[in-house]
Amino acid sequence: MRYKLKVLCIFIAITICAVAMNAVAASNDKGSNELGQKVFQANCTACHDKGENTIEPTKTLKSNALKENGFNGVADIKKRVQEGKSVMPVFSDRLKVEEIEAVAAYVWAESQKDWK
Ligand code: HEC
Repeated sequence: MRYKLKVLCIFIAITICAVAMNAVAASNDKGSNELGQKVFQANCTACHDKGENTIEPTKTLKSNALKENGFNGVADIKKRVQEGKSVMPVFSDRLKVEEIEAVAAYVWAESQKDWK
């Protein structure tokens, strides 16, 4: 009986530890996303508010459109932001690399949850 109690205690301790570690990991993720969100609001919402595209309506930042237009991950978005295309400006000379990476990660994460 004693022994079982001990095992149970250890199990509970491990569970609490795992939950706490997850919480820390989640808050770190939020940290990097905050930069991405900030960069997005300052540089992208003029044309891409809520993941839309007010200039080229078929080229939104939603998962379907991204997939159709050959964007399969953060790296593809990063490239578009760095190089621009037609009306979309080149950002490599006005944003830092870490800002471009953060905004690309933000756009990809939002697209996967439909900007909700
Ligand atoms: C002046 C308007 C404008 C701004 C500002 C702008 N974009 Fe764009 N964006 C466009 C246009 C237009 C396209 C379509 C380009 C094409 O393929 O012809 C586009 C396309 C994209 C695509 C590809 C979408 C697809 O489905 O093909 C991504 C990703 C993207 N923009 C991300 C961003 C991010 C991130 C920012 C901010 C750093 C940004 N854009 C700022 C106009 C803009």
